[in-house]
Amino acid sequence: MLGGRRPSLGGKKRRFPPIWKDPFMRDPQVVIAVNAQELTSRAVECFVSAATESVARRGRFAVAISGGSTPREMHRMLAEPPSLAVIPWAKIHLFWVDERCVPADDPRSNFGTARKDFLSRVPIPEKNLHPAEGKSSPEKGAEDYELELIRFFHLEEGEFPVFDLVFLGMGADGHTASLFPGDGALHEEKRRVVAVRGGIPVLNRITMTCPVLNRARRIVFLAVGQEKAETVRAVMSADIPRLPAGMMRPLQGELMWLLDQAAASLLEKG
Ligand code: 6PG
Repeated sequence: MLGGRRPSLGGKKRRFPPIWKDPFMRDPQVVIAVNAQELTSRAVECFVSAATESVARRGRFAVAISGGSTPREMHRMLAEPPSLAVIPWAKIHLFWVDERCVPADDPRSNFGTARKDFLSRVPIPEKNLHPAEGKSSPEKGAEDYELELIRFFHLEEGEFPVFDLVFLGMGADGHTASLFPGDGALHEEKRRVVAVRGGIPVLNRITMTCPVLNRARRIVFLAVGQEKAETVRAVMSADIPRLPAGMMRPLQGELMWLLDQAAASLLEKG
């Protein structure tokens, strides 16, 4: 199980709403790191422990990571000792929750950035990398990525993949992956991957959909900075999830929010 302390959200014994399909599921965990270094180590810890456990149980680790700036330090640390030696790289299968439709050598490419940050320095077999490809057209890219999921997870019609771990970020507007507030993609129920346009920078993008992300065994959100504090508060206190990040509610898995003190600053103290 992922480490971390339970959220303490005030004297009123505020609990998260009963959102779980399984009534026995635990509440989301909230971990507030004292500084950037601790945040990075906790995120690395999540990766390493989930990888080790998944490989022991299922012989492989299927993980989907995000773009954005927040996870970059964690990615770099994965390629440093001690993680470098501990991670069973040959058994890791790496996917992206979303991708910007730019060539891989464009600095805005999530895959290209990950390649630079850690993939070029770790012994992961090339065949274990499953980047989304958005160069030709976003729709074609989304279709191809969906086919890649179908192939890898041996999915039948109507089935969704189950990732061992999904790392997500959140924008100050509450978006996550490339699921933006008000966008129809947010309510997609059948497709596993869709094409969208939006974000900062505004680009054509490819994103995994809610039914995919919510089937993960574990979802870990990383969010830092004062500019996200209000959104973190809103997402955690909403009885009815309205923001994309709030719609990430694993059907059977665990949910963790890994925050720095600034991002957590508007949560009620216990
Ligand atoms: C992307 C992301 C996106 C990101 C958030 C947070 O490719 O843009 O996957 O959802 O995680 O925008 O980004 P920051 O970490 O840069 O705040």
